[in-house]
Amino acid sequence: MPQLTINGKVCDFEQGQSILEVALANEEAIPHYCWHESLSVVANCRICLGEVWAPNPRNEGKLEAWPKLVPTCQTPCSEGMVVHTDSPKAIGNQKSVMEYLLINHPVDCPVCDQAGECHLQDYAYQYGRAESRFLEAKIKAPKKDIGEHVLLYSDRCIMCTRCVRFTQEITGTGELIVDGRGATEQIDVFPGMGLDNELSANVVDLCPVGALLDKDFLFKKRVWFLTKTPSIDGLTASGDNLTIEHAEGSVHRFKPRPNPAINRFWITDEVRYGWKFVHSEDRINMPSVAGMDPWEDEQANEAWMTALTTAAETLRGKKVGVVLSPMLPTEEAFRIAEAAQALGQEVVFGLGPVPMHGEDKTFKDGFVLRAEKAPNARGVRAAVGTLGDVHEWDQFLQAVDGCEALLVTGNYPSAWCEGDALTKLTGKPMVCVDTLHSPLTEAATVVLPGATWMEKSGCFTNATGTVQAFERAIKPVDFAKCEGWIAEQLLAESHGNTAEVFHACAVRERLADAGLSQFSNVVVPEAHRAVESDMTTVEI
Ligand code: SF4
Ligand code: FES
Repeated sequence: MPQLTINGKVCDFEQGQSILEVALANEEAIPHYCWHESLSVVANCRICLGEVWAPNPRNEGKLEAWPKLVPTCQTPCSEGMVVHTDSPKAIGNQKSVMEYLLINHPVDCPVCDQAGECHLQDYAYQYGRAESRFLEAKIKAPKKDIGEHVLLYSDRCIMCTRCVRFTQEITGTGELIVDGRGATEQIDVFPGMGLDNELSANVVDLCPVGALLDKDFLFKKRVWFLTKTPSIDGLTASGDNLTIEHAEGSVHRFKPRPNPAINRFWITDEVRYGWKFVHSEDRINMPSVAGMDPWEDEQANEAWMTALTTAAETLRGKKVGVVLSPMLPTEEAFRIAEAAQALGQEVVFGLGPVPMHGEDKTFKDGFVLRAEKAPNARGVRAAVGTLGDVHEWDQFLQAVDGCEALLVTGNYPSAWCEGDALTKLTGKPMVCVDTLHSPLTEAATVVLPGATWMEKSGCFTNATGTVQAFERAIKPVDFAKCEGWIAEQLLAESHGNTAEVFHACAVRERLADAGLSQFSNVVVPEAHRAVESDMTTVEI
């Protein structure tokens, strides 16, 4: 394999790779703003310039210095090349670029949402000058409301054009442009247009500085207080990889997690902002039993014991219709189904409704927005299918008439059972495990508060059949419990023994042993570990 040397490190490369790509792949840091793996190369920010020496074939292959610094993001590697981005010349360029970028920048880090994850801030510290030499008045650029989710603080923009290229090359919608020339050029939307596409908020993640900001997150939390848990889209069948960023038991935002095979670098706005129901005022936070007074917070243990015993009694020895929600992780749906089988005399399994909104939409770069608005219909069908037939929703509603009791799981982000379906399900003794209050929970005999996917671990099977695991980001709110735990309690009620601890990975192993090989060796993404500060805190 051909090799080159970057800052003294010998690196292998493939033909066509740029110096910057090879450096990053070999953990050799080179500062860069305008370059992004998913976008075309424009080499306009100039901070990545390096000093290059290369063998000259016309001089017996002797190493010769190239006359100028070259952009490492745009220069392909060649055999025997020696690159320095830590030489006096390259460092001089980095300092000059940083000084230039900060000339008109307001340096308002204390009030900027990007502080703590800003490349301008980081590079100013690593590559910049300690003090500004600019004494003249700065050019003031306006703040602009450019779309439903995004604000543009033009005065912080470094004109890397990542956002413009995103709308041209990824979404193909082209809402953003560079307006003007020279020191007065600005990013803008076409007159009369807004940044209006289903992936619009990805420009906030792409922006290396604090110029493009998420309205939803604006001034909500300093980013260094956030814990990042890798997770999976729990709202649609995309299986998009994302990170749940949370603090003190509250979710604050979602960010995309790169996965070249599934979502590349993006998530839809629908998924990015779809988590709000986890902290909704409509969350069911305490079990309830029809005809009994509501329990107070301090009676939570008693409430759960009574509700679980009543739930078991409601189902015991009956022909039970079981609604298994496609919002549930595979492992929990499987254990709930087993609990129903253990308690009931006979069971009829049905998959809850799988909402479809229009058709799949494919963007210019191949990213697919899924019409199917449930994360795990395939996983639930496959896992529970090992226990018995799983009816689709319409078939189940036909079969439900013959059932004597119901065990229903919901977990949808909004009301999901209405009209004829609601009429069909109500009127029978019903144990309902759900997250949001609804007419269905009003009609249930026993209501058990379930947990959203952010509050538990498990795996989903997406629209292309890929099984992906996720870990719990936050604890279930108030007195809610994950469906896996509820299933173990119901199984214990059935067997008259102590409940086992629910382990999603143990259930996956059982499914793999039952012949579902897709559940063997499912990789659980590694959680982000905060880097320990090497600074000493001094009491003053
Ligand atoms: S707004 Fe951000 S992403 Fe767009 S050009 Fe400016 S710095 Fe780059
Ligand atoms: S990253 Fe190379 S010029 Fe911008």
